[in-house]
Amino acid sequence: SRFGTGDVESLAAHSKIHTFGDLLRELETAQNIVVLCGAGISTSLGIPDFRSADGLYKSLDLESLGLSDPQEVFDLEVFDQDPTPFYRVASKVMMPTQALISPTHAFLKLLQDKGKLLRIYTQNIDDLEHIAGIEESKMVQCHGAFHMATCRQCGAKVTCESLRPEIVAGEIPMCRRKRCEGVIKPDIVFFGEALPDRFRHMVRSDIIMGGPTPKVDLFLCLGTSLKVSPACDIAKQVPLGVPRVYINREPSARFYFDISLCGESDLAVQAICEGMGWDLSHPQMKPM
Ligand code: OAD
Repeated sequence: SRFGTGDVESLAAHSKIHTFGDLLRELETAQNIVVLCGAGISTSLGIPDFRSADGLYKSLDLESLGLSDPQEVFDLEVFDQDPTPFYRVASKVMMPTQALISPTHAFLKLLQDKGKLLRIYTQNIDDLEHIAGIEESKMVQCHGAFHMATCRQCGAKVTCESLRPEIVAGEIPMCRRKRCEGVIKPDIVFFGEALPDRFRHMVRSDIIMGGPTPKVDLFLCLGTSLKVSPACDIAKQVPLGVPRVYINREPSARFYFDISLCGESDLAVQAICEGMGWDLSHPQMKPM
């Protein structure tokens, strides 16, 4: 059973969470938590999100980039016509060189350590869930990551790290194969591209048809504006009766949640850990 935003009344009637105390009780018993997260879990590290007032999209000078919409920076058709706009901003979204993680990342690792984590669906390309110690099998990088890059012409693969000097210099990396003049594109999912197959498969097994009863028993959504499909659609595919929790600076106008903790996610997860009596150890810095 799937319920979208139109069924608020039936969703609310099945809601098990009304208070912060209810949330703590659900966390106590949860064994298969599904997390959907976005850029908001990394902003406390100084990595801008996309759509906030101080986010990447508002910081772009569209006129000088020759774009009409900031999202076109990550648009495949635009890229294939002219990769310049993307490569003029790519250094800002490239994987950070310092492997810092936020308390929110540490909280996600804690859920894994406690055996409560079914899966993290991250829209982030900064790979910090990985740095935090989330196992590969527990993670779906919905929009890919800055690991590998592919030549748009011949399909040759290179590491993004090998492109770093060019990206930092704002240059367009070209294929290094003889006689190929293709442009290299990092394997992050652009608008107009399909999400990795793993996304669809995992959503099916974790959320939609996890056997007679769905696997997911608690849905946590952190630091995402829920504006980009299909990742955000997870928020309406969670089965009826499974508690839905939103931790974000502002509430969602589009999706139903049983409880929304509005504010900084780092503070919210600290409050949760205090309430649970969990030790949120947060190493400020980890070696790469
Ligand atoms: P957005 O920038 O759209 O949304 C980030 C959300 O996090 C906003 O609602 C912020 O208010 C909230 N936020 C920011 N800092 C926070 C903090 N410290 N604590 C709590 N909330 C905070 O980013 P995403 O939803 O991740 O895709 O964007 C989704 C996709 O759009 C991205 O993956 C990217 C982008 O276009 C591609 O590039 C393909």
